[in-house]
Amino acid sequence: MSPGGPERRARELRRALRHHSYLYYVRNQPEISDERFDELFRELKALEASHPKLVTPDSPTQRVGAEPLDAFETIEHTAPMLSLDSSADVEPLERFDERMRKALGDDIGYVVEPKLDGASIELVYESGRLSRAVTRGDGIRGEGVTENIRTIHSVPLRLRAADRDAPPLLALRAEVIMRVGDFEALNARLLESDRPPFANPRNAAAGSLRQLDPRITAARPLDIYVYDILAIDGRPPPTQQATLEALREWGLPVNDRCRPAADVGAILAFQAEIEECRDDLEYEIDGIVIKLDDIAARDEVGETSHHPRWAFAFKFPPRKEVTRLLHIFPSVGRTGVVTPIAFMRPVELGGVTVSRANLHNREEVARKDIREGDRVRVQRAGDVIPQVLERIEEPGRERAEPWVMPAECPSCGTALEPRGPYTFCPNLFACPAQLAGRIQHLGSRHALDIEGLGEETANLLVREGVIGRVPELFDLDAATLMELEGFAEKSATNLVGAIHAARTTELARFIYGLGIPEVGVTVARELASHFLSFEAFREAAAAAAAAAAAEASEASEASEAAEAAEGKALQEVDGIGPRMAEEIIAFLARPEVSKVVDELRARVEPVPPPRAGDTLAGLRIVLTGGLESMSRSEAGKKLEALGAKVTSSVSKQTSYVVAGENPGRKLERAQTLGVEILDEAGLLALLSGGPGALSAPDEPASDPTASDQTAP
Ligand code: IVH
Repeated sequence: MSPGGPERRARELRRALRHHSYLYYVRNQPEISDERFDELFRELKALEASHPKLVTPDSPTQRVGAEPLDAFETIEHTAPMLSLDSSADVEPLERFDERMRKALGDDIGYVVEPKLDGASIELVYESGRLSRAVTRGDGIRGEGVTENIRTIHSVPLRLRAADRDAPPLLALRAEVIMRVGDFEALNARLLESDRPPFANPRNAAAGSLRQLDPRITAARPLDIYVYDILAIDGRPPPTQQATLEALREWGLPVNDRCRPAADVGAILAFQAEIEECRDDLEYEIDGIVIKLDDIAARDEVGETSHHPRWAFAFKFPPRKEVTRLLHIFPSVGRTGVVTPIAFMRPVELGGVTVSRANLHNREEVARKDIREGDRVRVQRAGDVIPQVLERIEEPGRERAEPWVMPAECPSCGTALEPRGPYTFCPNLFACPAQLAGRIQHLGSRHALDIEGLGEETANLLVREGVIGRVPELFDLDAATLMELEGFAEKSATNLVGAIHAARTTELARFIYGLGIPEVGVTVARELASHFLSFEAFREAAAAAAAAAAAEASEASEASEAAEAAEGKALQEVDGIGPRMAEEIIAFLARPEVSKVVDELRARVEPVPPPRAGDTLAGLRIVLTGGLESMSRSEAGKKLEALGAKVTSSVSKQTSYVVAGENPGRKLERAQTLGVEILDEAGLLALLSGGPGALSAPDEPASDPTASDQTAP
């Protein structure tokens, strides 16, 4: 320990970590290695763990750890967050400049900035400490997302030189963004676990900010740029240039492309330059913002009720191109949805060559009157999948007939069924397209994880007629595989071996692998730990289906039947609501599903999560605060698996309160009631089976949403 004891050392460590985070996340100029940073971080964590009094709210260890919220608080902004007057045409920009000159004379200057396409946010620093962060909302009030903003590493929890320079109150306006590469990686992760991807980085940023559980936000790669002072207690910097400089000095991330511009000529030059490099930028922008540089002059021109008169957004035209639509093809997905896909003559759109677009559903095709052979305008407005915006009139050119969704499935010939604007192939298991999709899904990473069974192989097995039903996957032998193109002895035996190994699998993987509508990885895990056997899960669904059928035959009211079908037993499972329960029940009740499930169960043995042993039976445990070695929900599951009852509120009946980092009120209540309090080591001891087993911590959290604060 250094001289001065733990308190002094903690202060030193906090200062060092804050400084190196700033160099890493804000300046992009780290001066120490990631390993060294980790070391310092771990030292501070250990110090704080052994001296909990040393934890300060703005300690670098305190970015994650708050309890999930039930709802966001509505908070009024320090000053209204107005929007911007905008246009994609030069004329309104020129008129803006004329108005400024008329009001202020010719001696004016502007600052031009990239217009970041993210989520607008207010950050409030009180005496240099981040005290709250509020989404824009309606401009007057927004939602308090402070805990989520704290997880963004480039947001200083306290301003640099805080003791000397920071005003008592500083309200800032900033944009939360997600870099394009991070956005794509996030979407890949979401898709892999069967969750819907975000349409564009802006939605991803806004959606990530609106998570009630800060640990989810912490696992999302968000970043931020600060660009305006909304309110300040004290003298504001005299110009926008000085403002940006002050923000930088406070350690806040400021976009480095902002610069002064004297007149419309300079503004247009900036716009051209930015548009030129738009596709190479790491983040999405949708234009440039022009602001009067002189802050006093801003007050002179004032504002309307919804935008300031001193600023103007010059927007980029969206990235659009015209090309020819060659062919519309109905594509059958794993769940049977038939989606019309447009195949187009390849065209460059914002740096990517595009040749396919999603036409969504038959009503959309009809509404836009898009036919094969038409000239169409396609757009990529930050969206991953390009859209066909409209067709372009070609007078005198003869057009093809209107496109119609085929009456039969292009893959299996079964009559298709319309559901709202969508179309489904009801032949769930025998339709080759769905069969191949289902086989691929069953073998995917979060399901049975069968190496070598990707999209291509699944398609091949179905196309060659080797597999006609999903369970037949488990009857494959190497000799059959070796007859197929692309298979040699080694690859064939490997695949057969991998399939064989998958005959014993975790219950959650089995449930997920069935491809039940709405059941992704997380829900499957919940179902597994709730029901503990596949049969118990299936029976609960069957009972609900039977209840629904009985209700339907007694009462003619269809709505009552629907209510019964909601499946109360299923709804006791975390994360399952009435609609999801209904989908699960209906799916499992189908005779063809039931048959396939029987056949699969005859071949695959799902292993339940560790059965409730007796070691912790009868104990009532409350968890509070963040844990280091696992997420709270994981800890809860482990405790439950050993027979403990995990509850959310502390009472006299509570056996233990496990207090992690930032424990909150439950800890106070435990102290008041005299309930025994355990730290994380105590929890681990409890889990490993008794007081004698204090060592051997469990595996670290594997849930990406449970990510703790990590070093760079
Ligand atoms: S200044 C009162 N500067 O654009 C005007 N806004 O369409 C304050 N935006 O809601 C805004 N980059 O979220 C300003 N460099 C920038 C910006 C920017 C993006 C957003 C902002 C605003 C929206 C208006």
